[in-house]
Amino acid sequence: MILTDTHTHIYAGQFDEDQDEMIARAIEAGVTRMFMPNIDSTSIDAMMQLAEKYPDNCFPMMGLHPCSVNADFEKEIALVEEWHSKYKFCAVGEIGADLYWDKTYAKEQEVAFARQIELAKRLQIPIVIHNRDSFNETYDIVSKLKNEDLRGIFHCFSGTIEEAERVIALGGFKLGIGGVLTFKNSNLREVVKDIDIEHLVLETDSPYLTPMPYRGKRNESAYITYIAEKLAEVKGISIEEVAEITTHNSKEVYGI
Ligand code: NI
Repeated sequence: MILTDTHTHIYAGQFDEDQDEMIARAIEAGVTRMFMPNIDSTSIDAMMQLAEKYPDNCFPMMGLHPCSVNADFEKEIALVEEWHSKYKFCAVGEIGADLYWDKTYAKEQEVAFARQIELAKRLQIPIVIHNRDSFNETYDIVSKLKNEDLRGIFHCFSGTIEEAERVIALGGFKLGIGGVLTFKNSNLREVVKDIDIEHLVLETDSPYLTPMPYRGKRNESAYITYIAEKLAEVKGISIEEVAEITTHNSKEVYGI
């Protein structure tokens, strides 16, 4: 059984003490494919070190996270573009908008998002979209800039069935399903029940959004098994089938 974690920040400082053991646990659990979204200039070195150490398991993306967009974002975007010119990344990510905490740089977030979508179109690689409290904003930009080749993932999807259907109608986009699926108070299970599994990929978003039964603790890629188990239960299929289909879906997006 091969499971794919399509969104995991395993290079983060939270893993400094036990990074190798944590990756060994993931591989042991069948999670042999881990896709790493970048945050900003401060996270690149740690991410690239991991990609170099585990070239068959840890795949880096390059992008500027919306929470790191401020008045100075042009410099960060220039660095993202420079890295893409010298290294073949599997995606531009993670990019998008985050209007949960702070709307001060909402306009700059929009500009940075659009610039990075154009970059992905030039490079013909997918985008990984962060859309916390900003589904409509990110969706509108994607649908406006989309061309035939543009594809990607709406990461950490937790919206309504209508929103899911709008994403699917774009063509080329998958919904990233994470720990929220296992939360007792979540209605994501109801939504996911009505979506064809061909549109879904699994993700942990480690070290955040830890699934039950570890909710509140540090998340890690091995825990994708709890999300896969829950999805199997919701869909009434085996975890092996979930692993096979969602890994296939991830290959369709990333080409790896
Ligand atoms: Ni993330």
